[in-house]
Amino acid sequence: MDYLARTEGFELLLVSNPDIWDAFDPCPLGVLVRLVNFRERRLTAGGDQHDLTAFLDVFVEANALSFAQRGLGIPSWVVIDLAVSPSALLLLTAPPSVVARRAGELLASDPYSPNGARGVRARSAAAALQSLLYRAETLGYDGPLPVAGYGAAATPIPGRWFGWSAWSLLPGLDLGYAIKRLALACYRTRLQSGVTQFDNAEALHLHTKFGPLLITAARLDAHTAAHTFSYDVDVSDLPADGWPAQVDLQPTDELAMADIDEWAGRMQDEIAGESHQHFILSPAAGSDVIPVFRRTR
Ligand SMILES: CC(C)(COP(=O)(O)OP(=O)(O)OC[C@H]1O[C@@H](n2cnc3c(N)ncnc32)[C@H](O)[C@@H]1OP(=O)(O)O)[C@@H](O)C(=O)NCCC(=O)NCCS
Repeated sequence: MDYLARTEGFELLLVSNPDIWDAFDPCPLGVLVRLVNFRERRLTAGGDQHDLTAFLDVFVEANALSFAQRGLGIPSWVVIDLAVSPSALLLLTAPPSVVARRAGELLASDPYSPNGARGVRARSAAAALQSLLYRAETLGYDGPLPVAGYGAAATPIPGRWFGWSAWSLLPGLDLGYAIKRLALACYRTRLQSGVTQFDNAEALHLHTKFGPLLITAARLDAHTAAHTFSYDVDVSDLPADGWPAQVDLQPTDELAMADIDEWAGRMQDEIAGESHQHFILSPAAGSDVIPVFRRTR
């Protein structure tokens, strides 16, 4: 994973406050992350000084662009009050020149190629990168740009963290996995909880790399995004070399995306009645079913 810290001027920043730094591992899986005090006014990068407030503004934009489809961007006050004051954000940054070059490469990819869906996804990723560059420009900010990130909140139970943001604006590099894996190691997480959506195949593919997701609530209708559920995943025994978890479970059911409301309701009844447990396994790319392992309690 140290390729992240060495490639194309990429850098990993753990943005937090010095009062709680000692709790974090600054070298997760042997990869050095740089601690950044969000209370400072300047961000040093490549020997230059940049405005840290503008950098955090650009982060808010990057995060919102990643979650635009589901309207799950967060305002700046949440970043300060809930992300970097009581916890830490792990951000992968790249110089603007690298972001501009990658946007050009993504734009040039052919949407009509045999893997055309990727081409279309590449174009929307290119548009997002261009919006990010534009936002930085309007702020007069020319420092490193956040291109992927992960944030989690500590819970009162030691080792148990609640993930609330995993995103990447550079598709095709598996950055979502890398950033989440490193962040969980920084936090010294043993059990990770989180919420995501049943119809977010990319997210399911990412999160199941950490192990089967035990569904704790199959319907969270109060959430902003439809089809949201919550899960727990045990991350206490992941391979030390950084590879994803080895999962031996075989699916007992394959749930069709088209019938989410029906089976999610049934699943929730079983969870509430404590009759069964349900684990989400990794969906195949492009598949319209979710593999689930269901067992009696
Ligand atoms: C989830 C997310 C972070 C993944 O980004 P990423 O790591 O850059 O993804 P990549 O393009 O590198 O693809 C990673 C893997 O996902 C797979 N994948 C991509 N699209 C997929 C899909 N629709 N279904 C299943 N798998 C998919 C790829 O084949 C690749 O598989 P591999 O690692 O086994 O080779 C990104 O899609 C994102 O930011 N989404 C918007 C924000 C979001 O919803 N975050 C999740 C919050 S719960």
